[in-house]
Amino acid sequence: MNHIRNFVIIAHIDHGKSTLADRLLEFTGTVEARKMRPQYLDRLELERERGITIKMAPVRMIYKLPELDHRSSNTEQSNSEYILNLIDTPGHSDFSYEVSRALAAVEGAVLLVDALKGIQAQTLSNFRAAKKAGLKIIGAVNKIDLNPQNLPKIESSLAQLLEVPTSEILRVSGKTGEGVEKLLAAVIEKIPAPKPLDSSKNHSLSQALIFDSLYDDHKGILAFVRNFSGTFEVGQDIFLIASDKKVKTKEIGYFVPDLKPSPEIKTGEIGYLATNLKESDLIKIGDTVLGGKILKDSHSLSSIRGLALSGYQEPRPVVFISFYPIGQTKFEDLKSAFSKLKLTDSALNIEPEANDALGRGLKIGFLGQLHFEIISSRLKDEFNIDFITSFPSVAYRIKEGTREYIIKQPQDFPVKPDKVFEPVINIEIIAPANYLNSVVNLQQVFNLEIKEIENLNDNVIISGVMSLSELVRDFDDQLKSISQGYASFSYELAGEREADVEKLEILVAGDFIPALTRIVAKKDLEKEARKSVEKLKELLPKQQFTQAIQASVSGRIVARETIPAAKKLLGNFGKTGGDRTRKMKLWKKQKRGKERLQERGRVNVPIEVFREILKK
Ligand code: GTP
Repeated sequence: MNHIRNFVIIAHIDHGKSTLADRLLEFTGTVEARKMRPQYLDRLELERERGITIKMAPVRMIYKLPELDHRSSNTEQSNSEYILNLIDTPGHSDFSYEVSRALAAVEGAVLLVDALKGIQAQTLSNFRAAKKAGLKIIGAVNKIDLNPQNLPKIESSLAQLLEVPTSEILRVSGKTGEGVEKLLAAVIEKIPAPKPLDSSKNHSLSQALIFDSLYDDHKGILAFVRNFSGTFEVGQDIFLIASDKKVKTKEIGYFVPDLKPSPEIKTGEIGYLATNLKESDLIKIGDTVLGGKILKDSHSLSSIRGLALSGYQEPRPVVFISFYPIGQTKFEDLKSAFSKLKLTDSALNIEPEANDALGRGLKIGFLGQLHFEIISSRLKDEFNIDFITSFPSVAYRIKEGTREYIIKQPQDFPVKPDKVFEPVINIEIIAPANYLNSVVNLQQVFNLEIKEIENLNDNVIISGVMSLSELVRDFDDQLKSISQGYASFSYELAGEREADVEKLEILVAGDFIPALTRIVAKKDLEKEARKSVEKLKELLPKQQFTQAIQASVSGRIVARETIPAAKKLLGNFGKTGGDRTRKMKLWKKQKRGKERLQERGRVNVPIEVFREILKK
């Protein structure tokens, strides 16, 4: 165990985690130079396309400290080979629970900061999470090949954050590889080797934490584990505590980063367990796996449960959106695509759903807006699914007399509920001090309640409370635009509060468009209604006939716009006749118009239209 180092690289989005990981793979000879490609650990096509890490990626590297390295006076340390287990983590707030599980699986973290951008919101929230997890944190400034002007300043703020002398902050370039050897040496010297759990003396079971999972066509669901005590062997029974399920391991191994089978995983190591299980729900991130002599010893279930490693949470979806098939796509295709996506993304929450106008669909719970966008792209690109969606909504708790229930989609919102409660978040925004006023101005726009403003060198940290439904709007875009991309935020759920909201519905040419129904704060109703009809007038295509666009609240029309017909109908031929073929042509055209009208209930509202309407 003395020769194992388990660590993560944490950073704000785009500060260069995956690129630095590439250099580590190269320096340690884990991936051959000819096979190397940028962002090697980002395996999903979408990750490469969008340049973001969505899936966590662990890798086991073998590294020998160079012999001439005199930094370490300990000869044993400088002359031996080390197993370095790195977990590359996603940076976005939507995936913070998964990151917290990755942090629980390691002893150390490299906190990477972009030398041009400095400390940003995820730098702070990741730093705090790593500190809370008790990790040894190594600070490093990245992208030094760009000759950053502010390097000394950024180094000193990072040193201040970590409470270490500035000389301990490393300078690296994930692009050129500069400083990477020093970083590897620091990982070995500073991050502690794994230790067996104290509590493991009291029992003979092996205990591992599941920090991620992945579906493999041949091996079923793989559990990515950090082994905390004992040994896991192939063919052994294992018990999944949260799932309450016993299965046999069919294969065990390491990530190199491809899967490499091994007969066992020892204490302190990171690897995978394959079980042939096909139900993704059974391998839960954060669950504890027990192995060893579990069957031979007659442990009671309650004593086994007591061995759960701490911190397990059920994934908690926060944004709900219903999907309905259109065009060539059938409901069964949609369902099967989501079942497959669920295998690779256990955080997806899927419930059947039916709507008068839209037919059968699925109500999906997402971890956040980015999660929704990612899954929508994957549905289109990987599964060729055509769909329409409902407006993104948070979950509201409704009280009507003694009855209490949760609604997750706007169409289900009752007419006059007694009370409505909505989820709220604690939000933390970090921005260069000269943008403070612009950020503060957002408080009116997004009903942000600012609680505290702190200084951190040239930055300000603004903390406050806001409704989750406000965040689901274009908060991210607006914050970026008012700060020219320099401000960033992170958030966590913080319970619920009473909300004064109502259902706003849209009719086009007299037909309700269920996909456009949404829940709006009462005080904003008029404004939002007006804006919606105006935007739709701009965005919806013209038809052969005039179309009224109306916004309605509890049966009352509160705003109206008209889209004029594209072309005038052919002349009046009722009395004067006109030739038969012209009439036939016209009838056909009118019939098509009617059919279009009937299709309207299933009108395809592209995601961009939602985004436009949601914009403040
Ligand atoms: P997420 O996975 O989205 O959180 O991003 P990340 O932190 O993994 O960043 P990534 O490695 O994808 O790098 C972001 C961008 O910065 C890419 O365009 C990289 O090419 C670039 N980049 C990363 N490291 C360096 C560096 O050391 N020097 C320069 N010049 N560019 C870099």
